[in-house]
Amino acid sequence: MEKRDNEFITTYRAAIKREGADKLLDYLISKSDFFTAPASSKFHSDYEGGLLDHSLNVYHRLLRLVESEYGEGWKDVISPESVAIVGLLHDVCKINYYKVSYRNVKKDGVWEQQPYYTIEDELPYGHGEKSVYIISGFMRLTREEAMAINWHMGGFDDRVKGGSYTVGHAFEKYPLAVLAHSADFLATYFDEKKDEQ
Ligand SMILES: [Fe+2]
Ligand SMILES: [Fe+2]
Repeated sequence: MEKRDNEFITTYRAAIKREGADKLLDYLISKSDFFTAPASSKFHSDYEGGLLDHSLNVYHRLLRLVESEYGEGWKDVISPESVAIVGLLHDVCKINYYKVSYRNVKKDGVWEQQPYYTIEDELPYGHGEKSVYIISGFMRLTREEAMAINWHMGGFDDRVKGGSYTVGHAFEKYPLAVLAHSADFLATYFDEKKDEQ
């Protein structure tokens, strides 16, 4: 098993104990492409296993943000289980979402087939709201976890781009949502920065 597969499973099992958690993990491992999917088609972590890397990166970022915001007693404010659920599972909406296609590219005068990712969404339900929907099919989320996962894209969410102000109201009421969006943003632009070419 790959090192990061192990890290995800170990972190998940140690932190997420509520009813249904084992069934959700089983679904991720054996009935989805979670461990091989990319995190995007051509932006951050657009490679096999990119979604797994991104999910772990967001989890680690979120843990650091929660610790620095609330100090030593952070576990009294936000449960470690919530941090793991939001960090590790915020992007399960990207399961069964990207497909490999091929295009012809000329290399040294010879045409060859080059793979690339296209979007083929098996469950067109949205983004953050879709992650909440998928997770809720297996286990109950707290209100704050659902808010954090639903609004993790912040101002990049399609609903916000369509003119909705709801994300601002959610951020005012649920600090974990603010921290989850910040963690997603930092992981994407710092941890997964694409090499200059
Ligand atoms: Fe996302
Ligand atoms: Fe993300």
